[in-house]
Amino acid sequence: ALTADDCSCIKAIWPSISGHADHYGAEALYRMFLAHPQTKTYFPNFDFHKDSPQIKAHGKKVVDALTDASKHLDNIEGALNKLSDLHAFDLRVDPGNFSRFGGVVVIVLAHTFHAEFTPEVQAAFEKAFCGIADALGKGYH
Ligand code: HEM
Repeated sequence: ALTADDCSCIKAIWPSISGHADHYGAEALYRMFLAHPQTKTYFPNFDFHKDSPQIKAHGKKVVDALTDASKHLDNIEGALNKLSDLHAFDLRVDPGNFSRFGGVVVIVLAHTFHAEFTPEVQAAFEKAFCGIADALGKGYH
């Protein structure tokens, strides 16, 4: 589980991301599509160019959902309950992709925050994204 220190690391950094949700969301999605091309198959009608209107609009939705989850770090599963059903039963996303996406977001954070993205901050986010991936994937167990 996340410690109090983990939560403060996340709460210190995340507002800078959530304030530019479309920008950072698009950056993360673009990296996911490039680094893990199999993830493109879930978005058959997408324009995959950097900062395409679809990538920005969808990136904003994803980051907004993470912002919501960041306000419920003690109950990530509850916060992502509806999204878990959507991704498991309707979209049938391979749950391995949730960890891949988490890895990409960590890289976006490292790229954005440089020195501020200390090993402790990284560890907090890695832990949080494990919880998020578990929560989103729980519809499969
Ligand atoms: C839709 C969040 C990971 C595939 C959505 C929506 C949200 C969301 C908020 C919009 C739901 C709505 O319109 O009601 C997240 C979060 C993720 C995540 C928080 C991980 C941290 C993934 C991954 C994939 C994926 C890894 C596939 C590789 C999709 C698809 C849609 C969707 C295909 C529907 C897109 C559309 O046609 O509008 N997701 N998602 N998601 N997500 Fe995710």
